[in-house]
Order: sequence, then C-alpha cells, then structure tokens
Amino acid sequence: MKSLIVYSSRTGNTRAVAEAVQEVFPPACELVAVEEAPDPGSYDVIAIGYWVDKGGPDKKAAAFMESVKGKKVGLFGTLGAYPDSDHAHECRARALSMMAGNDVLGQFLCQGKVDPKVLEMMAKMASDQHPMTEERKARIEEAKKHPDKADFEAAKKAFAGMLESLALQGNG
Ligand SMILES: Cc1cc2nc3c(=O)[nH]c(=O)nc-3n(C[C@H](O)[C@H](O)[C@H](O)COP(=O)(O)O)c2cc1C
Repeated sequence: MKSLIVYSSRTGNTRAVAEAVQEVFPPACELVAVEEAPDPGSYDVIAIGYWVDKGGPDKKAAAFMESVKGKKVGLFGTLGAYPDSDHAHECRARALSMMAGNDVLGQFLCQGKVDPKVLEMMAKMASDQHPMTEERKARIEEAKKHPDKADFEAAKKAFAGMLESLALQGNG
C-alpha cells in the first residue's frame, strides 16, 4: 500500500494537522506540500489537506484533488468556522464533490486561526455580509487556539480509523 499525504497551507494550520496525520501512516508515507505534489497515479492511498477559502477547499488543494482519480482518499482541512457548523458541513460537501471517481474513506475538519492581516482587512470593510457580531467575535477568538493538541489527536484518530478500515478490507 503506497501512501501519500499532500497538504495546502497558507499560514501553517493545515501543515500542522498534516504532520499529526503522518504519525498514523506507515513510516514510508511521504508528506508533501501541494506545490511539490508528485503525480498521484502511483499511490494507493492519498490523504489530502486543504484550508477553507470562500466556503470550500482552497484553489491549490482543489486543483490537486481534481487530478486524483480511482484512489482511496482521506480528506482533512482547517477553517475559521466551527467544525460542526452548517458552513463546515457545506465545506465538507464541496470537498467530497471534488473527489468523484475516488473512494473517500473519511473527512476531518478542525478550526484554524485566521491570518490577523485578513481579520484586520475584514474589520475595515464595512460589510453587511460579515457584521462583527458577538457570536462572530467569539468564533474568531476560539479559532485563535486552533489547531490544538486535541485537534491533532482527533485527526490522528480519524485517519487511524480510515487506515484500519482499509486493513480490514485486505488492503493494508
Ligand atoms: C482569504 C481567506 C479566506 C477564508 N475563507 C474562509 C471561509 O470561507 N470559511 C472559513 O471558515 N474560514 C475561512 N478562512 C479561514 C481559514 O480557512 C483558516 O484560518 C485556516 O486554518 C487557514 O489554514 P492555513 O494556516 O493552513 O493556511 C479564510 C482565510 C483566508 C485567509
């Protein structure tokens, strides 16, 4: 079983989750940034990590995801919103829709701190679409603590489960 982990990360949150995920893969599993991603053709199992941009996987991750066909795939990602929010569910659905023609083993999402420059820019833009409500403030504050140790453990558990299900199918 040849495995590969490819992640896209602008500010390091998703990279950190990718490194945690690597811990549960066989030692030979390669971990590479999306900019250096190899041709996925020769791998059996591929974990793909993205950061959420405008409600879906970021462009670089999306381009890689669309190049993957006929594989066992596990998806992971980080976002500013709560992972159990409707927004997060929509992100997962969008990610899944990009993986048609693959066997998606599972998905993992957790919060990730939002780039302070982006927050500053959004605060400056008087926006009806993104008013600074108390709820939003609390969410941004919570995101500042993530990904944390519990997120890394949860990501490892999610991927360990996916790999175990493969082993049970006789692909391990
Ligand atoms: C340009 C931009 C757009 C973003 N769009 C969303 C979004 O639509 N929904 C969301 O929950 N978080 C959004 N975020 C937050 C990021 O997904 C989050 O901070 C993520 O953890 C960044 O990951 P990285 O450190 O691996 O780059 C956005 C961040 C940036 C910079």
